[in-house]
Amino acid sequence: MGAGAGSSGGSAFSVRWGESMAGTFETVGVVGLGTMGAGIAEVFARAGLAVTGVEADPAALERGRGHLEGSTGRALARGKLTEAERAEILGRVSFTTSLEDLADADLVIEAIPEVMDYKRALFTDLDRVCKPSAVLATNTSSLSVTAIAATTTRPGRVVGMHFFNPAPVMRLVEVVRTVTTDDGLAGEVADLARRLGKTPVTVGDRAGFVVNRLLLPYLNQAAVLLENGLAGRDDIDAAMRLGAGFPMGPFALLDLIGLDTSYEICEVLFRETRDRRHAPAPILRELVTAGRLGRKSGEGFHRAEEPRSPSPHEKPSAASVAVLGEGAEEFSARLSGAGFKIVDPEGAELVLALSHTPVVERAVRLPHPDRLVGLHLVGDQVAEIASTVLTSPDAARVAHGLLRIIGRTPVPCRDRAEFVVDALLYPYLNDAVRMYESGYASIEDIDTAMKLGCGYPAGPFETLDRLGLETVRDGLRALYAEYREPSFAPAPLLDQLVTAGVRSIRDLAP
Ligand code: CAA
Repeated sequence: MGAGAGSSGGSAFSVRWGESMAGTFETVGVVGLGTMGAGIAEVFARAGLAVTGVEADPAALERGRGHLEGSTGRALARGKLTEAERAEILGRVSFTTSLEDLADADLVIEAIPEVMDYKRALFTDLDRVCKPSAVLATNTSSLSVTAIAATTTRPGRVVGMHFFNPAPVMRLVEVVRTVTTDDGLAGEVADLARRLGKTPVTVGDRAGFVVNRLLLPYLNQAAVLLENGLAGRDDIDAAMRLGAGFPMGPFALLDLIGLDTSYEICEVLFRETRDRRHAPAPILRELVTAGRLGRKSGEGFHRAEEPRSPSPHEKPSAASVAVLGEGAEEFSARLSGAGFKIVDPEGAELVLALSHTPVVERAVRLPHPDRLVGLHLVGDQVAEIASTVLTSPDAARVAHGLLRIIGRTPVPCRDRAEFVVDALLYPYLNDAVRMYESGYASIEDIDTAMKLGCGYPAGPFETLDRLGLETVRDGLRALYAEYREPSFAPAPLLDQLVTAGVRSIRDLAP
């Protein structure tokens, strides 16, 4: 199937060779001590390596030192580090504004802003300053490692070493080898990542590598759906946390990554793929231009210290409810148990149409179409409440209160194909199938990368198996029919597996 081209480890020979070489990295430099750089410096120092942190000017250097002190201070406060351990970690890091201090480093990792011109200028300087055997690594999220390597006289000693935010916590490192990287170097760097307590996944040099190529289109799509008014910011965040089990909702995560970084990654993806789903959502540009960059600037989609939006906790006034659709009987029994009177749709004050597809067709068949809302139960915790163009605000409000009473988090949304969770989840799963199909990475590496890079409870292929290939294929067809977005069309491999009656993509894997 062409998969496995990107699987980590390489041959037994290269692994053994890599292991014997990994011990040679004892002193490292980190250039750029923003959130990521400071986190990376902490990771190296925690693993016992001597770290030289470099920033452009004294003020930035002090901010970088502050990040390190803050992060280790937090670990101390939580009882994860003793005062002595913290002092030891901080003692391993020296701070400087001079690149010349990296002359003896075995490896230098760059974590400066995602601007190719800055990176190329820095690598030219590092190439001049660092000893010839030193490895030069970039933590770029999506820029071409090959183009960065090409500015040096040692492209064979240049790799990508991509950490995830927060670097001390997320367990993945993507090791990126280019066509010019020396044989065996990626294995050495992967071994170094293991020594740091991380799990490496080694891949080739494509925009976004594995994680950002799958993550950013999902985050960007969430921003597009927000702009289109499908659902509110906090509702989309809650839907993805509670409905998909992701550790953070898309807007909280965009704020963590930084909207400027997210915008840049989308730009790079778009330039490489010309897939308009990768074109940054206009709201990203607007927020970035307004200086709302996310956590780093205090506000992005969310404001720091912003009060949570109060959720309407009204007691539903509807005395009589009707339930339609698959599972109606069971759901009616649940409502009846909670004290609601179950009646026929014709006489009901609220009609709940259980459905995973739009419900407006059902509404127009009722005498009071304004009383109908669609209801999509997602997992055990979420209920998407779809208002059609005919639904009255009252009916939507009553449904909201009713769902809270029976212990589900209501997610109000518009009556659109696949509503919220599935509309965001299925294209991501489809992208993972396409990535595997292209031979860029193996099923195992993709699953590992998404679990350890983003803290997802399951990788995309595990999720596909759980949901069922046919369900996802059909959902993608519905999304494609509604939005006519070419990349929503099911990946040919997914379509073929369903047609062939194969239950898991793993059944095909070698
Ligand atoms: N620095 C250091 N440690 C931190 C931290 C930080 N900024 N934030 C949280 N932690 C630590 C905490 O100290 C805590 O450690 P212990 O368990 O040892 O006590 C642990 O992480 C959990 O923290 P919290 O209990 O405060 O919070 P949480 O359980 O909600 O977890 C989270 C926070 C780890 C960030 C979690 O929400 C998560 O995994 N989110 C997903 C993050 C993600 O997707 N990152 C990848 C983004 S993409 C990227 O980075 C690549 C790119 O190029 C853009």
